[in-house]
Amino acid sequence: MCGIVGAVAQRDVSPVLLEGLKRLEYRGYDSAGLAVMSHDKELQRLRVQGKVNELFKEHQKSPLNGTTGIAHTRWATHGKPNVKNAHPHICHDKVALVHNGIIENHEELRKEQMASGFEFNSETDTEVVVNAIYEALESRLDLLHAVFNTTKKLQGAYALGVINNTDPGRLIAVKKGSPLVIGVGIGEYFIASDVFALLPVTQKFIFLEDGDIADITRDKLTIYDSELSIVERSIKLTELNADMADKAGYRHYMLKEIFSQPNAIEKSLEHRIKDGKIITSEFGQNADSIFSRVKSVKIAACGTSYHAGLIAAYWMEEIAHISCHVEIASEYRYRKSVVIDDTLFVSISQSGETADTLAALHLAKESNFLSTLAICNVAESSLTRDSELVFLTHAGPEIGVASTKAFTTQLVALFLMVIAIAKHNGLSKEYEKMMIKQVKSLSGRVSQLLHHKDEIEIMAKDFADKHHALFLGRGSFLPVAMEGALKLKEISYIHAEAYAAGELKHGPLALVDDDMPIVAVAPNNNLLEKLKSNLQEVKARGGKLYLFADKESDVESTEGVYIINLNVDYDFMAPILHTIPLQLLAYYVAVIKGADIDQPRNLAKSVTVE
Ligand code: G6P
Repeated sequence: MCGIVGAVAQRDVSPVLLEGLKRLEYRGYDSAGLAVMSHDKELQRLRVQGKVNELFKEHQKSPLNGTTGIAHTRWATHGKPNVKNAHPHICHDKVALVHNGIIENHEELRKEQMASGFEFNSETDTEVVVNAIYEALESRLDLLHAVFNTTKKLQGAYALGVINNTDPGRLIAVKKGSPLVIGVGIGEYFIASDVFALLPVTQKFIFLEDGDIADITRDKLTIYDSELSIVERSIKLTELNADMADKAGYRHYMLKEIFSQPNAIEKSLEHRIKDGKIITSEFGQNADSIFSRVKSVKIAACGTSYHAGLIAAYWMEEIAHISCHVEIASEYRYRKSVVIDDTLFVSISQSGETADTLAALHLAKESNFLSTLAICNVAESSLTRDSELVFLTHAGPEIGVASTKAFTTQLVALFLMVIAIAKHNGLSKEYEKMMIKQVKSLSGRVSQLLHHKDEIEIMAKDFADKHHALFLGRGSFLPVAMEGALKLKEISYIHAEAYAAGELKHGPLALVDDDMPIVAVAPNNNLLEKLKSNLQEVKARGGKLYLFADKESDVESTEGVYIINLNVDYDFMAPILHTIPLQLLAYYVAVIKGADIDQPRNLAKSVTVE
């Protein structure tokens, strides 16, 4: 994780660096820092423990001025989140560096460097890199070659930004396994971990490829590949704009994002359906022919995206009659698995930069899969670049660490994918039309559900003093319960677990007492009666139940049973609909607890390290 920004300009770069860091804070917020080359060629540095706001305050007290600089917001991997571990790291006042990623052989390099007399000031894996560059500069290499030679010694994933005081107007940027973009300004260049950081200063971007090394001065940019041969990388214009990052009057980004779901869903459907049919080419030029051959589907993802995959598997088997397995990407990448002929590999990711999901995709590309499809929210991401087929979710930037609108739009995308594949496996035109009607009704139905917010806010009060909660669901609502539990633990720090309701008596029932709230997702489907029996088991043991029910679920509030009737009709959209109240519940519990909702402790939005 971690976010990096850099700039070489004619203007003072500190404001650009600080604003960039603020926009990258979703990537980590343990500590922050910046280094700017002063006009008399001295490296000046400010670092703070905590959030970027602290850095703003420090910078107000002692501003750094200069036209070349680098900055960093950290999500600690090696070494505690404190000032001495904060980036930029500097070696002998000569060279400064920011790093995102992990240097896997740092211990070995540290030993070698200690033996040759280096003293270490931090516990990070990064310091060996700045030392190695310094050593190379001392042996009379210029900055480009010093950085290039150093990268040959490094194992792991990294994006680097490096400046030094012998070349005060020069910035070297390297990308290997961690994201890095170059922003192209007028007479100025920038680097950042993502486009978002630089939107206030440019709309033009170059997406570096793995192994690329960029030599940047104010008026010249040269990009080399991993063999140090000059390469051309095209400039792309982004459609994103700087305003997308404001809270639009909402108290938190997460609330804004929950409430923007109807719109995000509509955007995700736009231009994807014509005359009641899916436009399969939206998945890629060859999608139709690939989908016609699919005999099974493998999905890999992490976190909330993994839950979306789990729900899609129910749809895939029920609607398309095609077997579908879903795996946690960090597990899949390291296990020996068997690929059945004509299996489509699907990766799901909001950011398109999650290290484990990317590694799973790379493994899949070396295996015998029919093709690879990425469902992703970021157009120019590593995942979309490396997949044969791509379907973009068009949810717009998601800033809150806890994912909401990315999840619901992933489900929309996955539902369309299931139908597009099912068409080749006997799905009738009438059935397709009926399902398209359902997905087109989704946005309006989500809007209706958001009206339950006040009721849920009241319910949330019961959770605020609890330490544990259980979430129950059955069938495709088990992953919905898992997502509800994940949301609650992410932002309110209440330990929450999800269980298949039928498994209750095989263990978790032992935990049930009046201090353990139990949330049940109770749609009006064929499992409702079974779920009701499970709930009786809870009630009989004094557990307090909170039920989200459908229009005709036929359950009523009684002593110890709190029902929120969502008033929705049951159909294939029900897992998406039932997610909304669980997002709101987690949000309001966290508000009552006064938690840092958009930036929960220890977490980051984009997990670009293993
Ligand atoms: C982090 C985020 C989650 C997200 C997961 C996967 O843990 O905090 O919200 O679901 O990464 O991220 P991706 O970008 O691959 O969907």
